[in-house]
Amino acid sequence: MTTRKILVTSALPYANGSIHLGHLVEYIQTDIWVRFQKMQGNEVHYVCADDTHGTPIMLRAEKEGITPEQLIARVWQEHYDDFSEFHVEFDHYGSTNSTETRESAETIYRTLRDKNLIEVRSIEQYYDPVKNMFLPDRFIKGECPKCAAKDQYGDNCEVCGAAYAPTELISPYSAVSGANPELRNSDHYFFKLSADSCQQFLRNWTKSGTLQTEAANKMQEWLGIEGENKLSDWDISRDAPYFGFEIPDAPGKYFYVWLDAPVGYMGSFKQLCNKKPHPRPNPPNPPIPPLSGGSQSGRETDTPPLARGGWEGLFDEFWKAGSKTELYHFIGKDILYFHALFWPAMLEHAGFRTPTKLFAHGFLTVNGEKMSKSRGTFITARSYVDHIKNTEYLRYYYASKLNGTMEDLDLSLDDFVTKVNSDLIGKYVNIASRCAGFISKRFDGKLGNTDAAASAEFQAAFTGGEIARCYENRDFSRALREIMRLADVANQYIAEKKPWELAKQEGKDAELLEVCSTALTLFRDLTRYLKPVLPKLAAQVEAFLNIPPMIWDDQWAALGSGHVINTYQHLATRLDPKLVEAMVAANQESLPPSPASVQGETVQSEQRHAVHQQHTASIEVAQAEKDFEPFISIEDFAKVDLRVARIVNAEQVEGAAKLLKLTLDIGDGNSRTVFAGIKSAYDPENLKGRLTVMVANLTPRKMKFGLSEGMVLAASGEASGLFILSPDDGAQPGMRIK
Ligand code: MSP
Ligand code: ZN
Repeated sequence: MTTRKILVTSALPYANGSIHLGHLVEYIQTDIWVRFQKMQGNEVHYVCADDTHGTPIMLRAEKEGITPEQLIARVWQEHYDDFSEFHVEFDHYGSTNSTETRESAETIYRTLRDKNLIEVRSIEQYYDPVKNMFLPDRFIKGECPKCAAKDQYGDNCEVCGAAYAPTELISPYSAVSGANPELRNSDHYFFKLSADSCQQFLRNWTKSGTLQTEAANKMQEWLGIEGENKLSDWDISRDAPYFGFEIPDAPGKYFYVWLDAPVGYMGSFKQLCNKKPHPRPNPPNPPIPPLSGGSQSGRETDTPPLARGGWEGLFDEFWKAGSKTELYHFIGKDILYFHALFWPAMLEHAGFRTPTKLFAHGFLTVNGEKMSKSRGTFITARSYVDHIKNTEYLRYYYASKLNGTMEDLDLSLDDFVTKVNSDLIGKYVNIASRCAGFISKRFDGKLGNTDAAASAEFQAAFTGGEIARCYENRDFSRALREIMRLADVANQYIAEKKPWELAKQEGKDAELLEVCSTALTLFRDLTRYLKPVLPKLAAQVEAFLNIPPMIWDDQWAALGSGHVINTYQHLATRLDPKLVEAMVAANQESLPPSPASVQGETVQSEQRHAVHQQHTASIEVAQAEKDFEPFISIEDFAKVDLRVARIVNAEQVEGAAKLLKLTLDIGDGNSRTVFAGIKSAYDPENLKGRLTVMVANLTPRKMKFGLSEGMVLAASGEASGLFILSPDDGAQPGMRIK
């Protein structure tokens, strides 16, 4: 078997937002594929980095009162930690703001310039005279030219969906300062994508099998029919002030973030190569002697993948034109344009190799809809970890949904719980938990012979190489179906033999030992096939079965009579649906009302940040509930505007599990709508006409069902029940409570 040399990347996440469950589709998908390739014994390098340049990051840092470098350093750590939690294991995680990326970007640019593929042209663009900067389209807002909706972005209308140029907006204003933007001229640098050589190259490249069918069709659309030359030149420069790399020989002009972003793949790989004086890594799983039988001996005669040559030359080996190595980019379908047009054209004309394949995936929906902050389904990696902890549940679920196409995939939260509990725990983990205890308790941890008939049946069910083929093709859902089919065979065997009954019968020890030894061997194999998806669990299993790290193996061999295993410790527990509910509630409840000024990506990520902070705060509150709060001054208390309110109407809220919608009269003809979490304790009919107490000056909160304009007070404690407050007779709506 020849060892493949593979460089794999995931898209570089922007350095101004938190990693969320949508991003994780991609990083988990890539990581599974990489782990599979490493288990195959291939030489694989998996690199990624933060995408650090551009206007949003510059403005965000400014707003926080820190330098962009400080911002990107902080976010880098957050991203890195999030990925580690989800067992996404890069061989290197870098940053586009690096010398290596700068050098590669400059080399590419200079080569393109020398080939007359760069052109300077003056363009007219909106300029913010207060901020003294040119405004990217997303930072100009105004009335939609088509439907007159207010406060729409400069590139498209979120109300009617129209796409237009920022200059078409009616009454445009700068989203940064609010100023009236002025049109000004400036020289911009263009990459001549319209050149014949580019279009011709891209046409051939599209036909070369590099792209998934859906992606190739998109490309045809973008390129047009032969001779049509639909591509226009690409504007690769931005004017100062900009956070990025200054263009060589062009003071005050910077590379547009999307020019150096993919170059970050090279930069990160170069950093990996430069991690000297380390020797090139050993194969991830060194050849291991078989425990019994000869199933793994083939490996030992293979040349160790990285023994030839050192790190030097590795960069060129992977990136020079004509490279014999493989390069794969995992990306989301939203950034196909950049990866399928600009990037290969740049590489080709700058003397580098082009990607072997682009692997584009679809977008994540949660419960069938776009991730949404108001529904509590915009969930960060951190929030998932805080609530659910076990990140392999999500890896398993995503794997069960991923099929290597560009289709969107849905995280149905109910289905998530079901699948984890019925498949992962019910069918797989249970095999070990039902059999391992007997080996420790009754046989000193020593395995016996395996049941030849059962083993043969298991082998027959295993359609040799099929699981590996599924992994290779990124059809993980199919791989898991195959594996679960095998788990069914193992479970059937256990159900027939009933080790728990054998254990109670006299003279059945030998049979009990054989059944459990067989089941654990089957469990070992299932674990091997699941290892790319569940790396941590697999390591726990290897420790408990007392075996070396498993590599891929399509042959079957018994664990061996006399092999001693360690005491079984539970591997994973069932997923409690309440944890999922709490996660959604935490992300929903903490939703702050939209800030008045929206600033494109900057604000989005700020909101994400705010969601996280508030969510952390609400956990702290829950923990503190038993203790009394620290003293506050009377002035602090006076800030809370408590009023007597009459509940004039109370009704059920469709789709809300806990809420009632209350209409409150707070005197002088003022009325408020409040969504109160009291459905479990009150029939709305019995509330109508009652007096209660409300917080009248709580910042209104946008909820899925409407705006909640305050809060009704209620008591609750450890004992069950929820009790709303009522004032004594005679109190009138609007009276202040002091
Ligand atoms: N910085 C660019 C990529 C530069 S690559 C040279 C970028 N960053 S991103 O943070 O917005 O997205 C990173 C990756 O996550 C992209 O591939 C994107 O498609 C993917 N996803 C972001 N949100 C997603 C979902 N909701 N669902 C699935 N993938 C998503 O784009
Ligand atoms: Zn519109």
